[in-house]
Parts: sequence; structure tokens; C-alpha cells
Amino acid sequence: MAFWFNSDRERGRIFSEAFARDLPDLPFITDLTQVDPDDVRYVLTWTLPPDLDRFKNLEIVFSIGAGVDQFRIETLPTEVKLVRMVEDGIVRMMQEYVTLAVLSLHRNLKAYLAQQSEGRWQALPARQAADRRTGVLGLGMLGQAVIERLTPFGFPLSGWSRSPRQIDGVRCHYGAESLPSFLGETDILVCLLPLTGETRGILDARLFAALSPGASLVHVGRGAQLDHDALIDALDRHQLSGAVIDVTEPEPLPPEHPFWRHPKIMLTPHIASVTQPDTAARAVIENVKRHRAGLDPIGLVDRSRGY
Ligand code: GLV
Repeated sequence: MAFWFNSDRERGRIFSEAFARDLPDLPFITDLTQVDPDDVRYVLTWTLPPDLDRFKNLEIVFSIGAGVDQFRIETLPTEVKLVRMVEDGIVRMMQEYVTLAVLSLHRNLKAYLAQQSEGRWQALPARQAADRRTGVLGLGMLGQAVIERLTPFGFPLSGWSRSPRQIDGVRCHYGAESLPSFLGETDILVCLLPLTGETRGILDARLFAALSPGASLVHVGRGAQLDHDALIDALDRHQLSGAVIDVTEPEPLPPEHPFWRHPKIMLTPHIASVTQPDTAARAVIENVKRHRAGLDPIGLVDRSRGY
């Protein structure tokens, strides 16, 4: 029995120390030449290696990241489980980033930075948090964690998800029919949806038109969910007032892409949230233990939903 770690060396060092301490009976392999493929039960990776079928006894593929859209799940034998990365470091970083983005939009940071570069000292109209309705698309673990972190600021909070959710103090909407009413009462929209067939291209002209006029966007889902031209158009027509974008398709964006220099866009290079090796190692070890005890791992992907 062995665990194959197919990721970068630095993280591997931290993982291997944690495995040696907490799962000493499970060989932790980074170099496949050291193992009989029949012994590999677990793989931790970002994408599926092409020759995965050589591991006849594979039980779990762990994603090194929170997303699993980079895997073609249908190519994975049905008896092999796919597990998303659910770990405290990712959650904390996403809470930080979305808080930063929402507050930046709320307090006009981009406009003030532009004024600074022009040497202009001028107050812009300010709105109170109680007047800035903030809505989160996607109420999974990250969506809920972000809402929890935004709560003390006093923004009226709402959320939308595919299936019903109940969160104290949050107006929760669910299902495709309720999306327009959710959007209509949203001033800052945070997209934290997983990428699936249903969410590809969801941030499009129609969605922007349904948002409250002058709303803004924080996009931390996946690049392929956003229609770039529709966003530029909505910003240039003042239908939207700003956007903070961390994920794009493609990544990186080409140098001539309009997002780089748009006065209403803040762009970061997919850094909102990154797997932290020490907390991730703990989460994966816990999941191996759960699996050995006959329990479902935390973050188990439901193949029918695709996340
Ligand atoms: C990053 O985007 C991840 O999936 O962890």
C-alpha cells in the first residue's frame, strides 16, 4: 500500500514529514520508480496523469486544490473516489481575499489609487455598509466561510446556491428560477461557484443586466465562468461600477488584454487562495484515516454534480 504525491517538491517535503509522523505505516512516495504500481492506493495531484490505469488498486485521487474542474471525472474508473482539497489554509485565504475585494469596492479603493497617481485630493460619495447588499453565488464551504467573515461589517448578506441552504442572518436563494431576484437585490456580487457545465459562462451580459444598477463583481470562481467582453461592456456602459478579478480564461491573460489596464478592474493572478501544505497535509491524512475507517472522505466529489 502506498501514497503517491504528485506535486511540487517543497510541499512534498512538508507532506512527507506529516505522513511519517501521523501515518507511519503508509509509504509516502514522490518517486514512482520506488514503488510497484499495484501498491499505489492514493494519489495526490493537480491533474490526472495520463497512465493512471496502471494503478490497478487505486482507491482515491486527492486534488491538491479546491477545484476539480481540471480533472475529466468521466475518465476516472467509477470505483475510484475523487476528493477536493478542503483545508483551513484555503478557507482562511479566501476569506481574506474576498473581504479585501468587497471592502475595496465598497470604499472605492481603485478610484482613490487613480486619484493619488494624479495628485488629486478629493472625497468621493460614500455609502454605508448597511446600504451595500452583498451576495455570494455558491454557498459551499468557501461561500459560507466568506459570509461569516463579512458579517461583522454590517453588509446586508444574501446567497444563492443550486440546492437549498439555511444560514443565520443571510437571505438564501436557490435554484435557477430564483437567480434573477437574488441578483436584483445585489450590489456586490461574489462568485464562488465551482466550474461545471451549468456554470460555464454564467457571468454574462444577461446576469450583469439582472444585477442592481451600478453593482460590482468579485470573481474568485473559475475563469471560464466569465464572459470578458460582457464585463467590459457592462463597465463601460456604467451598468456595473467595478470588478475584482482573480481568475481568468486563459491564465495568464495575454499582455494586450483589456483587463490589465481597465480603470474599473482590479486584477490579480489567481492568488486569492492557495493550498497551504501544513494544513493540507493534516486534512489529507485525516481523510486517509476516514477512508480506512469506512467513512467518506471530506470533500468527496459527487460525480453527478461534478464537484
Ligand atoms: C485554486 O484555485 C484551487 O482550486 O485550489
